[in-house]
Amino acid sequence: MPLAVRDHAHPHPTLAPLPGLTVAREHDAARMAALQGRDPSEIAGRFARGHRAYVAHVHGEPAAWGWVATRSAEIGELGTRFDVPAGERYLWNFVTRPSHRGLGIYPRLLDAIVRAESAEATRFWVAYAPENHASGAGIRKAGFVAVAELSFDAAGRAALQAMRPDGGRAASRVLGLAEAPEALAPCWRCVRAGRGAMSCAAGACTCDYQRPELACATADDRSTGGAVR
Ligand SMILES: CC(C)(COP(=O)(O)OP(=O)(O)OC[C@H]1O[C@@H](n2cnc3c(N)ncnc32)[C@H](O)[C@@H]1OP(=O)(O)O)[C@@H](O)C(=O)NCCC(=O)NCCS
Repeated sequence: MPLAVRDHAHPHPTLAPLPGLTVAREHDAARMAALQGRDPSEIAGRFARGHRAYVAHVHGEPAAWGWVATRSAEIGELGTRFDVPAGERYLWNFVTRPSHRGLGIYPRLLDAIVRAESAEATRFWVAYAPENHASGAGIRKAGFVAVAELSFDAAGRAALQAMRPDGGRAASRVLGLAEAPEALAPCWRCVRAGRGAMSCAAGACTCDYQRPELACATADDRSTGGAVR
């Protein structure tokens, strides 16, 4: 899955304003839990671990949300945890309610978060499942650039490969993963499902993000690209 970054090295987009759209940080665990349909104690735990929540409203109605890791983060698909460097952020668990999808809220929410957090941070990371077109498109529109591919190496270890010069080094530094000298497994889901790192050729996998019932791995493994609550 691609890991994308937005920082001062890349030109920032100018997104046309969306009528009625506002984005604000949410500090209330109970409200956030109700919005996401999650247990309040789980959301309180996120806040306690330094995660920040942002909610986009359209004409006052909650339409989308996302989370910002400030201290440590996890990419469930790869089973990897990492410390977020000072002055950087890792964005995760973004959802636009089905009733509000396709309106361009996601890239504007990402953009608003980057701007809000820019007082304290200069580099922002986000990962997305490659088959999740909606996610990848929104991330690109928000000015993020994919710099590294994340998956498993032939030995089944989480690893990465550069997609841009220096991308591998930067990603390796933040995630603490090694750059693989050889091809990565084309499908992380097959690896998580125990099928072996190179069991499915690129394009031959039946995994389909939009049809999770076809996925090789369980829904719980999809915390980054697939968390839908
Ligand atoms: C990914 C997601 C956050 C995008 O939110 P969004 O606010 O709808 O984003 P956008 O309005 O920019 O639309 C993005 C893409 O969604 C697709 N889309 C358009 N209308 C849609 C609709 N009614 N329903 C679903 N997807 C639609 C389009 O392909 C669009 O891309 P395009 O503009 O290049 O054609 C949202 O689809 C979602 O919550 N998905 C489930 C959770 C998820 O995948 N989170 C991402 C984790 S990184």
